[in-house]
Amino acid sequence: MKFPEDFIWGAATSSYQIEGAAYRDGGGRSVWDMLGRQAGRIANGDTGEIACDHYHHYKKDIDLMAEVGLQAYRFSISWPRVLPDGAGKVNQQGLDFYSRLVDTLLEKNITPWITLFHWDFPYELYCRGGWLNRDSADWFADYTQLVVDRLSDRVSHWITLNEPQCFIGLGHQDGIHAPGMKMGVSEVLLAGHNALRAHGKSVEVIRAQAKAAPFVGASQASIISIPVSDQPHDIEAARQHMFSIRKKHVFNNAWFSDPMILGRYPDEGVELFAADMPEIFAGDLECINQKLDYFGTNIYSGIHVRATADNGFAVVVKKDLAETAMGWPVTPEALYWGPGFFHQRYQMPVVITESGMANDDRVNNGMVHDRERIEFLDKYLGEYARAIEDGVPALGYFLWSLLDNFEWAEGYSKRFGIVYVDYETQQRVLKDSAGWYKNLIARHISESSQDAETATDKNHTVECV
Ligand code: FCB
Repeated sequence: MKFPEDFIWGAATSSYQIEGAAYRDGGGRSVWDMLGRQAGRIANGDTGEIACDHYHHYKKDIDLMAEVGLQAYRFSISWPRVLPDGAGKVNQQGLDFYSRLVDTLLEKNITPWITLFHWDFPYELYCRGGWLNRDSADWFADYTQLVVDRLSDRVSHWITLNEPQCFIGLGHQDGIHAPGMKMGVSEVLLAGHNALRAHGKSVEVIRAQAKAAPFVGASQASIISIPVSDQPHDIEAARQHMFSIRKKHVFNNAWFSDPMILGRYPDEGVELFAADMPEIFAGDLECINQKLDYFGTNIYSGIHVRATADNGFAVVVKKDLAETAMGWPVTPEALYWGPGFFHQRYQMPVVITESGMANDDRVNNGMVHDRERIEFLDKYLGEYARAIEDGVPALGYFLWSLLDNFEWAEGYSKRFGIVYVDYETQQRVLKDSAGWYKNLIARHISESSQDAETATDKNHTVECV
């Protein structure tokens, strides 16, 4: 598989899933801390209070990143760690932590990609109405300002929101994720609208205030529609299915991305939601529709789709697909069709901001043989390379995840890392997949430099002639 010369190889994590050290050094509470205190909400009664204790082990974790040869690291800032009440009083010690993290990454030549919001919403702001409060967009803009003031001299890659489909859909509609609400559709859409406004305001702040030229996007939770054949009618059916909105739920590919990038909510959703649509104030859509530099997408799996006789689409359930430990089907072609369909609709370069798998990993004589993950990565990345070869501009890939970590409602029962974490001892073990990823990155770098040399030689020859 071949990737562009300047392609970015990274790995991703998020604050609540790895940091631990909850409430340490003046940090505040998030909605995830509060959900963890409610019996029966999280598998095995797990919480993120300690997690991978990355807050204290960040140096050794960055050493591991360097060992794997990562070029970039995507992590998130815990909003309540830097603003314990979500707004107002600043916790300098929290900001200091992220400043040290950034410096240590840069010392190792690893480019930091900061996600501003990866679900640990400040509990104090939740008590003030959370995303339902129209002021939430300003709270987020102020928080962005704080982070940008402190880190943008050294950080230029930004992701505003991670997966509004999840923190609004799973968090406010299904009640599975924090804050654990099962709200009516109109409240859900209002919360979503404010999150979108928060995104817009945050981008405005980054563009206006960042010291280093910023590169900005958001990360979408993407379920990819895969055509059952390469016939044009099946491809068209999959494309339609990919952006259709048939259920009164916000977990789909267009509801959040369209307003961010195209400046309007998708018609089909507006018709379906009808009277439940939130009030859209003058200027809201313009605020949401900021210029972005790339389309960030988190892709784990896809759904097969075929054309129907009446030019519509139908889902085809393939029963023989392998599944990951999450029960998600293994569908490598999602990394071919996803980037292609997104690029076609949004006309932007693509960055895969998350992709990977949970596996039933075990330590054996000090090693973790996660053959399934290597096969998964190999196949998925092969499809991504094919998309690029077919003309999709793609800038990078962030493997989810660097470390095994707190997998939300599943607690610690699911292991996504290329590094195994023993939660009792906080020891880390590089899994076989880490070695595989290391080789892939090293090979890519050496092939790219050889290509560059060949190009220079050619130029040289031409000059001599
Ligand atoms: C994504 C989340 C990420 C992780 C993976 C498995 O939806 O963004 O935090 O939990 O799923």
